Amino acid sequence: MDDRPLVQWDDRYLTGIQLFDDQHRELIRFTDDLFKACQAGDTQASETFKKTAHAAVEYVKYHFTAEEKMFDNIKYPLAAEHKKQHEVFIKRVLDNVQKFESGGKFVPLAFAQFLREWIFTHIAGHDRQYADFIHSLKRKGLLKTN
Ligand SMILES: [Fe+2]
Repeated sequence: MDDRPLVQWDDRYLTGIQLFDDQHRELIRFTDDLFKACQAGDTQASETFKKTAHAAVEYVKYHFTAEEKMFDNIKYPLAAEHKKQHEVFIKRVLDNVQKFESGGKFVPLAFAQFLREWIFTHIAGHDRQYADFIHSLKRKGLLKTN
C-alpha cells in the first residue's frame, strides 16, 4: 500500500495549545488511516476499516473529553455550543459505525470524507475560537498554565 498520506495535517490548523495540537494531529492520522482502509476495497479493507473506526471513535471521545474539561476549567463562554457540536458529531459517527456493522447502507469513502470535512472545519472554526479565548486570557495574565 502507498504510504503517502491522503489526509494531511497542515500548520494552518494549529491552535497554539500543545496538547490539543498533538491530539488534532492524531485525529488527522486516524482519518488518513480510514481513507486508506477504504481504498483497498476488499474484505481485508473492511476488517481494517472496522478496527480503525473503533480506535478512531475511542480517540475522538478521549479528545473531546479533554477539550471539555478545559472549557470547564477556564469557564469558556461558548462551552455549551461547542459541546453540542461534539455530541452531534459523535452521534453521527456512531450511527455510521452501527450501519457498517449491521451491513446496512454504508459507504466507507463517504464516511471518511465526512470525517475529514468535519474535523478540519471544526478545528479551523470552533477550536480556533477557544484557542483565541485562551490566548487572550494568557495575554491578560489570567491564565498561567499551558
Ligand atoms: Fe472541539
